[in-house]
Amino acid sequence: MTDVPARPPTAPSPRPAAVAAPPAAGGPPARPAAAPGEARPAPLVPGSVVQEIDILVRAKYPVLYMVTHEEERAERIIAEVARRQNKRCYSWSLTRGLLESGTDLQMKKKVSEATTDPYEAMNAVIDNVENAIFIFKDLHPFLKQDIRIVRRLRELAGFLRDSPRTLFLVAPSLTIPCELEKEITVIEFGFPTPGEISQKIDEMIELVKGNPKVRINLGQADRERLIKACSGLTLREVENVLSKTLIAQLKLDGEDFRAILQEKEQIIRKSGILEFYAATEAFKSVGGLENLKEWLSKRAQAFSEKARAFGCTPPKGIMLLGVQGCGKSLVAKAVSSLWNVPLLRLDMGRIFSGLVGSSEENVRRAIRTAESVAPAILWVDEVEKAFAGVQSSGASDGGVTSRVFGTFLTWLQEKTTPVFVIATSNKIRDLPPELFRKGRFDDIFFVDLPLPAERKDIFAIHLTKKKRDPQTFDLDLLADRSEGYSGAEIEEAISSAIYEAFALDKDLSTELIAKALAETFPLSKTMKEEIEDLRKWASERARPASAFQPSQEAFKTHRALEIG
Ligand SMILES: Nc1ncnc2c1ncn2[C@@H]1O[C@H](COP(=O)(O)OP(=O)(O)OP(=O)(O)O)[C@@H](O)[C@H]1O
Ligand SMILES: [Mg+2]
Repeated sequence: MTDVPARPPTAPSPRPAAVAAPPAAGGPPARPAAAPGEARPAPLVPGSVVQEIDILVRAKYPVLYMVTHEEERAERIIAEVARRQNKRCYSWSLTRGLLESGTDLQMKKKVSEATTDPYEAMNAVIDNVENAIFIFKDLHPFLKQDIRIVRRLRELAGFLRDSPRTLFLVAPSLTIPCELEKEITVIEFGFPTPGEISQKIDEMIELVKGNPKVRINLGQADRERLIKACSGLTLREVENVLSKTLIAQLKLDGEDFRAILQEKEQIIRKSGILEFYAATEAFKSVGGLENLKEWLSKRAQAFSEKARAFGCTPPKGIMLLGVQGCGKSLVAKAVSSLWNVPLLRLDMGRIFSGLVGSSEENVRRAIRTAESVAPAILWVDEVEKAFAGVQSSGASDGGVTSRVFGTFLTWLQEKTTPVFVIATSNKIRDLPPELFRKGRFDDIFFVDLPLPAERKDIFAIHLTKKKRDPQTFDLDLLADRSEGYSGAEIEEAISSAIYEAFALDKDLSTELIAKALAETFPLSKTMKEEIEDLRKWASERARPASAFQPSQEAFKTHRALEIG
């Protein structure tokens, strides 16, 4: 393999002035790896993105696609690889055309009018016979709609193959038309590494070093804490949040990680797919469901260093299936306060909505964001809504649902970061069976209508929330009168009884709640068949979330009979 141009220069096509003409002898310009006196580049970190790109470029992959919002960082890394390999580096944008890549201000002002058109820019790459890397920044919108560009890129890939030249597409979302699937290799461009973040912190400290008003107090442990808090932010975001802290507080120390976590909340909100949930539900506000609560309580320290050292594998996740209004979503919210880790709700509707990027890219982004704030809980509420159409996806939506599902499943199976998934659903028949295979979730729990003791518990919880003393109510009677009622319906009965009491100018009483219960028509009556169906399915595949005691066997039968 010799590094000679794959294609001799052709005369007719006018070469844009900005792109350096090929050397007369046909060989690439000799650029020493390190000029005399210049430091030799540091060895590549194994497994780093720089190393991955370095290998792909050496292996002559013609077109590499980097999915990232961090254009500047991507360009810097690609330029670094080019430098290591003695290659020139060019960058193309729709506004500035094809120009030698560079970050100084004069360079940034230059424009190459002749190559602002993407087709012309690709021609210029074909005509260029240097040992070079080309970064194309704005090509992705054209790949969606302009078949001329798609065709030219395919031809260009042909020219680049076996040549010492590589084309990089850098874009915030992945757009590859099927014609180009075999020509393009996608590079997952992760968030900045701890080393890069540390370097950015140094740069920021350097900027304020001379200012006597600013106090920098960053020991090794503080710095590590800060770096960890910054993981998952882009370098620009790290810069922004550090600048903000420095300007507002005139200091930088270990405590600033709080400001960074707040900034992260903002970023998660902006992503539009994940929702940050403040831990507002206390774990003790979940009534009954003792089995499930015990399982979760046992793992409260699961993500601690101590647990890891002891040999506990971090839990992967659970699936909560069951009857509507019986506390599945409530449990998801309450675990966050029990475990003291952030809760992120994944909005599957938005993943598929087409409002924010492509569905496949959205799910990848959601996963990456969740991992960046790990340890965290990722709550996928009403999972059936997202994946109901998996089986027919090929015919109905060109396979989008099934690809998103595939990405999600693979991640569930293989994830190593401490992101605990809680998936909830009340419609198991709509769920693809693959979701229940071994290795995806640690356990599947079935959340049924509450048993009498659980109903007492739920009454007590909601009465306390309404600032009433549960002991002044006949909880046994209320539990008896609420056979077949869900937790949500019990809560609702208390709420309407309070209105009634307020209207009558009385205080809330057992009688008023019993009256409200009698006036409610519980879902378990209208949805008898669905609930029986759920129970039948769950009896073979899921664990009961409620603690099952032999003495409650009678209630089980009783409950089934009463529902009718
Ligand atoms: N076991 C319970 N203990 C205390 N409150 C409960 C319980 N179950 C339900 N509730 C009350 O009912 C509300 C609604 O319950 P939740 O949203 O958790 O139901 P769900 O099982 O997620 O229902 P769906 O299947 O419709 O999503 C809760 O916010 C809570 O106030
Ligand atoms: Mg719910």
